[in-house]
Amino acid sequence: MYEKAAEHFVKLIESQQERIAKMKEQQDFLDYDHLDTLIIGVVGGDGIGPAITQQAQRVLEFVLAEDVKNNKVEFRVIDGLTIERRAELGQAIPADTLAEIRECHVVLKGPTTTPQAGDPWPNIESANVAMRKELDLFANVRPVRVPEDGIDWTFFRENTEGAYALGSNGIDVDDELAFDFTVTTTEGTRRIVRAAFEYAKKNGKTKVTAVTKANVVKTTDGKFLDIAKEIAQEYPGIELDDWYIDIMTAKLIDTKRRQQFQVLVLPNLYGDILTDEAAEFQGGVGTAGSANIGKRYAMFEAIHGSAPRMVKEGRAQYADPSSMMRAVVLLLQHIGREQEASRLAEALDICSIKERRLVMTGRETGATGEDFANYVMETTANLE
Ligand code: IPM
Ligand code: MG
Repeated sequence: MYEKAAEHFVKLIESQQERIAKMKEQQDFLDYDHLDTLIIGVVGGDGIGPAITQQAQRVLEFVLAEDVKNNKVEFRVIDGLTIERRAELGQAIPADTLAEIRECHVVLKGPTTTPQAGDPWPNIESANVAMRKELDLFANVRPVRVPEDGIDWTFFRENTEGAYALGSNGIDVDDELAFDFTVTTTEGTRRIVRAAFEYAKKNGKTKVTAVTKANVVKTTDGKFLDIAKEIAQEYPGIELDDWYIDIMTAKLIDTKRRQQFQVLVLPNLYGDILTDEAAEFQGGVGTAGSANIGKRYAMFEAIHGSAPRMVKEGRAQYADPSSMMRAVVLLLQHIGREQEASRLAEALDICSIKERRLVMTGRETGATGEDFANYVMETTANLE
């Protein structure tokens, strides 16, 4: 009677073994400096996604204008990733869209609708989660800064394993019993922990904090923590400290303690939750960008959703594109354009915090995303 469930479980083990083999084959990170033309894919997504992504693209094109002119950078707008198409085809990412994305080097992506049971949509896998897996974007890097409060955190959320790896592949054994799974692999943990330590080393940070629930979730979180300790040995100048996720959520609001955290590395689901909390100190999820980094591909996005209500009420053009512009800053850093990245980051600080000549309210009482993008470009130009 349990054969079906047992068979399903065997398949899951096999699929993860295949994934491990692929991870082990992976080469080094792509070297952007030696590409003839860097191809940037722009994927609008759903809801307010196309509106805010378009404004972020304008800013990125402005910052890279010289490279676009010299054919060093090419933009490709990729349209097919809408919830309507995904639902119609029953695919988390339509195959033709995925093929187009695979021809790019980096992707700027707007938020996409995540179906859940009870929606008008079939309950297919999230496009975000699928893209992270398909392109093997294993490091989800989410910076949060509030200089006046001494907050300067960079989260390295594992992005392809944990509770997400098989989130759409749980087992309903019968009406009474359901299982989901959480996955930790040696290879997958080593690469995310190493990414966190490498970042710490490059940026003069002295501490990496591993966040797990290894006291209760002993096998998978226990493994994550053990590997973090093993990798830490390779970085003598950098201290590893170890916190449980429950107390960590509390300590982020402890004004004295929280200033001590620098780089944090954590399994997927804890990273999902903790980064929303962290972004709130900075002004909310609307102010935060997110980098999804793999060896061959990288994707940059906002950390918030697609706000379908704004579109229904005809307010998409008033949506604040600053989270997508923060994602653009991360994209520029990733492709080695540090100067352009800092200039844009400074302009964004001026436009959304220090000067705020335009205020976005999300409705017609405030500025449009287009006005805001113009303001950001003008401010960036004045910094030169
Ligand atoms: C995020 C989002 C996604 C996630 C959703 C949209 C699937 O919350 O990027 O943090 O859970 O990872
Ligand atoms: Mg989230």
